[in-house]
Amino acid sequence: MNNQSYDVAVLGGGPGGYVAAIRAAQLGLKTVCVESRPLLGGTCLNVGCIPSKALLESSELFLMASKSFASHGIKVGAISLDLPAMMGRKGKIIQGLGDGISSLFKKNKIDLIRGKGRLEGAGKISVTGESGEKNILQAHNIILATGSETASLPSLPVDGQQVIGSTEALSLSEPPKDLLVIGAGFIGLELGSVWKRLGSNVVVLEFLPKALPQCDGEMAHLLQRSLEKQGLSFSFETRVTGGRKSGSRLEIQAERNGKKVEFLADKALVCVGRKANSTGIGLEELGVQKDPKTGQVLVDAYLRTNVSGVYAIGDLVPGPMLAHKAEDEGIAAAENIAGGKSKVHHENIPSVVYTWPELAGVGKTEEQLQNEGIPYRAGKFPFLANSRARTMGETEGWVKILAHEKTDRVLGAHIFGPRASEMISEAVAWIETQSSSQDIAMTCHAHPSLSEAFREAALAVSKKAIHI
Ligand code: NAI
Repeated sequence: MNNQSYDVAVLGGGPGGYVAAIRAAQLGLKTVCVESRPLLGGTCLNVGCIPSKALLESSELFLMASKSFASHGIKVGAISLDLPAMMGRKGKIIQGLGDGISSLFKKNKIDLIRGKGRLEGAGKISVTGESGEKNILQAHNIILATGSETASLPSLPVDGQQVIGSTEALSLSEPPKDLLVIGAGFIGLELGSVWKRLGSNVVVLEFLPKALPQCDGEMAHLLQRSLEKQGLSFSFETRVTGGRKSGSRLEIQAERNGKKVEFLADKALVCVGRKANSTGIGLEELGVQKDPKTGQVLVDAYLRTNVSGVYAIGDLVPGPMLAHKAEDEGIAAAENIAGGKSKVHHENIPSVVYTWPELAGVGKTEEQLQNEGIPYRAGKFPFLANSRARTMGETEGWVKILAHEKTDRVLGAHIFGPRASEMISEAVAWIETQSSSQDIAMTCHAHPSLSEAFREAALAVSKKAIHI
């Protein structure tokens, strides 16, 4: 029985929760974090961002070794896949990062209680451990950071063998010969890329007429075409309606333009979104308000729920379901508990699809600007005209900057190209500081660097790009 009293109890040790706990402890608050997984880091570290990026990196190198080393004048012998070693590397990265978070908890004197936490009343949490033992914690403030889980397709339940979710797709023992990916979202395109590079035939079935509907349409289309060139196939306006075993294979039923269609595969990967983990944690009993449609917990700008002393962050609350958004909210919630007034600007949260090339964006898309009737100018610059991209042999893609027609304030930036994930932070900084395309254009960027393409796109807003 712990029965201790804390200033802050954080429910969930993912990127939102563990970061909130660290900031709370840094602010001098006595802090405890409750987590049921053996390793801190949540979905992101255990079965999400980190393992998928490890596999994306490895599979990219596998492909480069067989396809592009020769163009650099590097001769290698026969290339073959050692999937257990690739998975082992991924496992070591996860363990190392998880151990790192545990050390940070020790350094910041944060108590960690293993088990499933549940609100038991104002300022009270019960924690049930693996063997059923119960701890009761008292806390003046509670931060709910229970994250989200994979949304299911009722017509095609995940069996973990032939019908899999992203968790299983990160640990397959061999590349399936034919893999059907259901959903052309972030997970579908990233994990579809991994298994295509490692040898699978990949067909992506998407309900909507296009991939990545939330991204800038032009850039998402460029990515789709690039993936098609890499060998992925897409079937749009295709709604999966069911599936059944057909010998050792899987038969997937779907509807396309009102007609029934069937697809045969060895495995189907269901990635049709995520839903908040907001049940079974005592929210209803305490009267914490939820969105009846999404189940997400409703919070104000300071991450406060309607119940005094209860905060909520990350995938559990509205906004993009992204680890970095959760981290920022974790910091803000901890600071607000300590008397601050911190807010997170959801509109300035960048998003990245870690395909090759990568697609990254922040702020408004062209579609949003058009729908909202905001007058804008777009500046675009191709990586083909960027010297660093040429030296890397990675010339596919564009940078696009959207600025207000009258004020020139940067409203959105979208990058489809090499290392877009690294470059997008520059765009976030310009947008957060309410800068103009002229500000970017007047700022020196190192030569040769990919970031020069970003500056050139800003110059292109006023038709002054140098290299096109
Ligand atoms: P998503 O929301 O990105 O995409 C799901 C897709 O499935 C949608 O395009 C939807 O139209 C389609 N779909 C839904 N029902 C369907 C059906 N019956 N048949 C065919 N298509 C159907 O969801 P995803 O990819 O599962 O990712 C979940 C969350 O995880 C996202 O919110 C994403 O932000 C986050 N994530 C972020 C990553 C990153 O930052 N790089 C990587 C992976 C996930």
